[in-house]
Amino acid sequence: MSIQRLDRFISNQLSVSRKTVKDGIRKGNALVSGRAVTSPDYSVDTERDSVVYCGQAVVYKQYVYIVMNKPAGVLSASEDKKRRTVIDLIPSELKRKGLFPVGRLDKDTTGLLIITDDGDFAHSVLSPKKEIYKTYVAVLDGEITEDTVRQFSEGIVLADGTVCRKAFLKPLGERKAEIKICEGKFHQIKRMFGVVGLGVVSLERTAMGEYRLPEDLSAGECKEIQKNQLIPLFSEK
Ligand code: URA
Repeated sequence: MSIQRLDRFISNQLSVSRKTVKDGIRKGNALVSGRAVTSPDYSVDTERDSVVYCGQAVVYKQYVYIVMNKPAGVLSASEDKKRRTVIDLIPSELKRKGLFPVGRLDKDTTGLLIITDDGDFAHSVLSPKKEIYKTYVAVLDGEITEDTVRQFSEGIVLADGTVCRKAFLKPLGERKAEIKICEGKFHQIKRMFGVVGLGVVSLERTAMGEYRLPEDLSAGECKEIQKNQLIPLFSEK
């Protein structure tokens, strides 16, 4: 049994401000198990009671998991005063408080981004100890050589002396490659290619672990998935 204040429950699940919800409840916009409730501090049993707010069913979920095909030009951040973030792209029916992207992609990087409010989940996916490899496809401004592949596999040392773990580089063409890394250092792939004298023209994340970017998601689209659909993500190399 999980008891919560009615205003808090609605505000958290629907990402509507607590003040707006309080006013709405006082005006009679909330039904709990079919009865109108006008006290914001009413105790609701989130597992047993059905709650409707302004005609919309409020279904309790402890956490949500959203997969997005991040477009270029938006920030992977929870909020920003001026610039558009990935959270701004989430439709209102999926939005709720506390959502954040699991690992950051640069503003110009596209592709797979998981957004959740489950901190433990995010930690497991990002921890280098777990060795969950993230797969990217990069288009480069020069040719990839066998030596580039070898250097990546041995562990690149970045310009500031940071040692990267071994990475898997598979040429997909003269200037295109698939890269798998299990860390998330700032601008890591761009900096790794910088060490071998190559510039990254475009970068797309295509998979995290074994979980691939769904083909039905166009750039900027997202959809909710169940945690168990992400389980393959945890298959360690
Ligand atoms: N490496 C980068 O350089 N940028 C990204 O967005 C992700 C990995």
